[in-house]
Amino acid sequence: MAAVTSLLDSISDIGRDPVRGGYSRPVFSAAETELRSWFTAEAQSRGLAVETDRNGILWAWWGEPQKGALVTGSHLDSVPGGGAFDGPLGIAAALAAVDVLKERGVQRNRSLAITVFPEEEGSRFGVACLGSRLLTGAIDPDTARNLRDDAGTTFADAARAAGLDPEHLGRDEDALARIGDFVELHVEQGRGLGEDGPAVAVGSSILGHGRWKLTVHGQGNHAGTTLMEDRADPMVAAAQIITAVQQTAAAQPGARATVGRIQAIPGGTNVIPSRVDLWLDARHEEDAVTARLVETIHGKAQKIAAFEGCSVTLAQESFSPTTSFDPALQRQLQLALPQAPVLVTGAGHDAGILAGHVPAGMIFVRNPSGISHSPEEYVEDADADYSATALADVLEDLL
Ligand code: GLV
Ligand code: MN
Ligand code: MN
Ligand code: MN
Repeated sequence: MAAVTSLLDSISDIGRDPVRGGYSRPVFSAAETELRSWFTAEAQSRGLAVETDRNGILWAWWGEPQKGALVTGSHLDSVPGGGAFDGPLGIAAALAAVDVLKERGVQRNRSLAITVFPEEEGSRFGVACLGSRLLTGAIDPDTARNLRDDAGTTFADAARAAGLDPEHLGRDEDALARIGDFVELHVEQGRGLGEDGPAVAVGSSILGHGRWKLTVHGQGNHAGTTLMEDRADPMVAAAQIITAVQQTAAAQPGARATVGRIQAIPGGTNVIPSRVDLWLDARHEEDAVTARLVETIHGKAQKIAAFEGCSVTLAQESFSPTTSFDPALQRQLQLALPQAPVLVTGAGHDAGILAGHVPAGMIFVRNPSGISHSPEEYVEDADADYSATALADVLEDLL
């Protein structure tokens, strides 16, 4: 078994989700912690020195930590019931690429670091790319400290339990200055690379995207004694709001809008809920269109809620504008990978957050299923193994 597939195979039992299928590896959970230890051991076995910065980002150094280093990395956390490749492929490819570079006897002009970012998915604390947002100052550390998971644990407490000092979270000038160039290799998450086309693509930009919470308030009541005409049922409003989200996005070319998570309070079969929370994910190439889309959805939600005797509030939880990768770095990636087409991605990445601060670029690896954030996400073994060569080709040119 070649390098990347064997690395991925060695973590294939960690964080499996027997209920949802696939993997559930929320940040700082037992599974993600085990993956971080696995990464540390793999990096150390290659002679890399591993450190954790004050935002919980792991850095594995080939060469002395220094300003302007070449950095590659991704994440090890997952969405609930996610696939095997979203995140870990970039980490395994980076470890294997170091092996390739050493085998090639590459002379470095600067140090190389592999980074593992925490809470890329935002699946535990609600804000995606939380580690890179903290590093770059894109989120206020107080806001981050007060984020809560479903069990009510704050990010501050979770960070403390993971060995970090929550008081030290936030923009880290020294760590940021160490990134001369950042390259993230990632599984392609849609149908951007066909089954028979080239194995890798170079990223050009990321669609603007954000998360909003819609809270529908109604009257909690008894399912048996409350006549249908007497109800103010937020679940009935929520169902129509979800349909309105789908219709509004479908009418806007290029838009994507999703309600992937809902919560009924208190959540009993024989209870009319008093409140239903819906989380909206909306994306479009033009940020003004995304803003209008969310405004339209909010207006429709208010009408629907009023008709059902309920009310609704909308709160933005995060937003990342449409981001283009560094043109010079993108050209260098294209020169190193001449067969690779150029892709826009609809998925968010730490590389996108970093792109506002340092030259950043991405490499995508073919996913014949066209499916991601699902157990059916897929990369062929040959492509996974080739990804280390592709990444090494890029890193060698930049080192
Ligand atoms: C993260 O993968 C996202 O695009 O939401
Ligand atoms: Mn990812
Ligand atoms: Mn993802
Ligand atoms: Mn992502």
